[in-house]
Parts: sequence; structure tokens; C-alpha cells
Amino acid sequence: MDRLEYSQEELLTSVTYDEPLVAAGVRCHGGFVGGQYRSPRSVGRGPAIAAWQAQLARRGVPLIEVAPELVPPHYPNAAQAALLLREGVREPLVRTLTTIAIIEGFGAMIRDQRVPDLTRCVREPLAGTAAAHLAGGLFEAHARDEAGHRSEGGHKQMWEAARDLALERPTVPSDVLMRLMTGRRGGPRQRLFPQLDESFEELLAVMVNVLVIEIFAADTFRWAETVLGDPEVSARPREAAAMVGYIRSDESPHVEYLRTALGELRACTLRGPAGDEIAGNEVVDGLLARTLRVLTTQRPRLQREETRADIAAAVGGHRDAAGLQKRFNALEEEWSPPPVSVGD
Ligand SMILES: [Fe+2]
Ligand SMILES: [Fe+2]
Repeated sequence: MDRLEYSQEELLTSVTYDEPLVAAGVRCHGGFVGGQYRSPRSVGRGPAIAAWQAQLARRGVPLIEVAPELVPPHYPNAAQAALLLREGVREPLVRTLTTIAIIEGFGAMIRDQRVPDLTRCVREPLAGTAAAHLAGGLFEAHARDEAGHRSEGGHKQMWEAARDLALERPTVPSDVLMRLMTGRRGGPRQRLFPQLDESFEELLAVMVNVLVIEIFAADTFRWAETVLGDPEVSARPREAAAMVGYIRSDESPHVEYLRTALGELRACTLRGPAGDEIAGNEVVDGLLARTLRVLTTQRPRLQREETRADIAAAVGGHRDAAGLQKRFNALEEEWSPPPVSVGD
């Protein structure tokens, strides 16, 4: 049987690279072996996730799935973004790419996520599962991938490099960070399962939220690969698209460990401090349904409204503003989310 216990050090170890990844002069994580890009911290993490998933498969326990039709398409679409760039309207795309880089950097926060004593919150033993390794390397590896570690850049620096390669070090709008910091805040999360320990419900809610964001991000990455890889609008199409591709492949272990750990906990009986017991599937499915409802309706709608306003303002400076806006609108694709259904 595959090994199911891993030390933190094992989960954080990278393969030995022939050549490191250098992005815009910054040494980043990951690198090349025999000319192929290999993600960081994969020596223990790769086999560990595969072993935990195989264990679930043997028990007939499903991993968490999110239906692909729930993923909101990126706005503006690739054709609209390319049109704006061809017409010299660059600010909206520069803003989007810079925002993505900053949000990737915020990913460092996952290392501060509190993990309560799970033996008190879950009836079944968790030894040899992904859930038992969250605080023992999985969150730390995730944080390092997103934000970089010590002198090594992570996704934050890699997105900046992709932007600078494709758009030749564009001027970055000065209010990107400010707008992110002062932007809409959801306020404190409502508790759905007050019979559980508060920090345990918070942990599950954060994991569900991060999982859905990671799954939805894959679509943004494909969009960016298309736009930044388009030789008509990108100065370095091959390198810029490859950089986004490296980031996309690094995201795969994030999705996989989260859907594994949540799948494990979903199959358990969860226990509150007063002794209440509740089925894991009720909790995980409830949290997942809530997150999916918000992230398929409210959030894409607000993101679209804000982006449309930014684009309209930027197009206003074009010599044929009305004509360009019309051509942009003609490329619009309608999308409405299908109803969310979770569970089996
Ligand atoms: Fe990332
Ligand atoms: Fe990620």
C-alpha cells in the first residue's frame, strides 16, 4: 500500500532542477528538468495526494466535484480583450493582471489558517489522510506557491512577469491595491452550523471557498494564456503564455489536496463541543452550496459591472470611442449561471 504519512519537510521538498525558473529577472519557484517545467514542492506532495486519493477510491468515497458549467466565464472574453489591446486601450487588462498578481500574493494567508484539534471535531480517526496534514505542510506549501518564499518568487511575481512580457512593462494604474483594499467586503461569515466548534466551521468554510476560487481560476488562466499568447497583441506571446501555463500547472495540487481533505471530512461524522453530531456531508455540502451560489451570481455580476465601467472609461480616450465601444459590445457573450446543486 502507498505511504499515507508525510513529514512537513517531505511535503515542502522540490525536485532538483537542471535550471531554475527566472521570471523578469526574479528567481521563482519551480524549474526545468530535461526541458520540462516541474512545479515546486512536488517530491512528497505529489505521491501523498495520489495516495490519499487512492485510499478514498478504495473506500468508495468521492472527491469534491464542482460541475464545469458553474464556472463563470472571464469578463471581458479573450476576443474583447484582444480588440482593446489592438486599439491601444491597455489599462483595463493591465489592471486585471495586476489585480490577479496581488490576489495570488494574498494566498500567503492560508498559512495562518487555524486548524483546531481535529480529533475533537471528528468522530473517526484521521491518521493517514490529507485532512491530518493540513497544518503539517499542505497549507504551508500552498502559501509558498502563491506568494513566494524567502528570495524565491511565487505566483505573484510570475503573473507580474507574464504581464510585463506581453505588454512590455506597462504603466500600472496607481489605485489597483487601494481599490482591492477598500472594495466590497462580505462582512463576517454567517454561521450555518452553530453546533460545531466555531474555528472548525471557519476552517471548513475557508477550505470550501479557496477550493471553488481555485477551480474557477483555471478559466481565467486559460483566458490569459489565449490573450497573452496572441502574437497580434502580445510582445512575447510564447514566453508570456508559457508563464501562465506554469502557474496553472502549479495550481493543480491546491485543487487536489483541498478536494481530497474535504472529501475525507465529508465522509465523517462531525462533532460539536457540546457533543452534538452531524453528518459531514450535510456540513460540507451546505457550505459548498452557499459558496457556489455567491461565486456564480453576485460575484461575477459585480466583477462584470466594475470591469465594464473601467473599460468604458478607458475607451473614452480612444479617437473613435463610440465605434470601439460598439465593436466591443458586439463581441459580448451572455452567461447566466445554472442552478447550484450539490451532493449525491
Ligand atoms: Fe496561485
Ligand atoms: Fe492556488
